[in-house]
Amino acid sequence: MFFENHEAIFPKYVPVLSTKRLELVEITEEHAEDIYQIYSNDNVTKYDDCYSFTSLDHAVEAVNLFKQVFTDKTGIRWGITFKNEKNLIGNIGFNQFQSFHTGKIGFALNEQFWGMGICTEAIAEVVHYGFNTLKIHRIEAETHPKNTGSGLVLTKNGFKREGTLRDFVFWKGVHQTIVMYSKISGDL
Ligand SMILES: CC(C)(COP(=O)(O)OP(=O)(O)OC[C@H]1O[C@@H](n2cnc3c(N)ncnc32)[C@H](O)[C@@H]1OP(=O)(O)O)[C@@H](O)C(=O)NCCC(=O)NCCS
Repeated sequence: MFFENHEAIFPKYVPVLSTKRLELVEITEEHAEDIYQIYSNDNVTKYDDCYSFTSLDHAVEAVNLFKQVFTDKTGIRWGITFKNEKNLIGNIGFNQFQSFHTGKIGFALNEQFWGMGICTEAIAEVVHYGFNTLKIHRIEAETHPKNTGSGLVLTKNGFKREGTLRDFVFWKGVHQTIVMYSKISGDL
């Protein structure tokens, strides 16, 4: 397991988290269409490790994957909604917990809602939950060097740019260099 007391600390249900404008909620089959809208856009998948979705089946598979990582207690993914609205406008979460109290964060927003500070707001809440409830010590993010927006939402949340890792990931069949960002519990 990934943390001391992992079994005790890991939530039984995906908890609902709230921010000023947003709710972070469990992702279910009902959200498949919204997930499809997010990931069928080439601008969203451009710097991600997945290809653009071309059918609703891809979105259903993604929903099942989010559920599976939670069941396996290896990650937690939330859907992002505006308060009192049902539609998912994005998703965020810990793709993967690792040994020694580390969580890898990932996020994506429907392009219609870019540039409104939504991801900055959602990351702040997930980071708070990670450090305070899950007792994670380090939260990290791997971003494509050209993904300016992703780097900005992280640094706005106090993440430090640690450096470039050469051919560190194998995304879409290609060895890719990434920029690693991290925030350590206690960093401002
Ligand atoms: C990256 C992403 C999540 C940003 O979400 P967002 O809610 O639009 O970001 P915010 O509105 O909180 O923006 C925070 C800052 O970054 C800037 N920014 C956001 N996207 C940008 C972009 N593509 N290019 C340049 N600046 C950008 C904003 O202007 C803002 O700066 P400001 O506070 O000085 O005005 C969103 O663009 C997205 O979903 N991209 C595709 C998926 C992806 O790349 N995910 C990350 C994988 S690691």
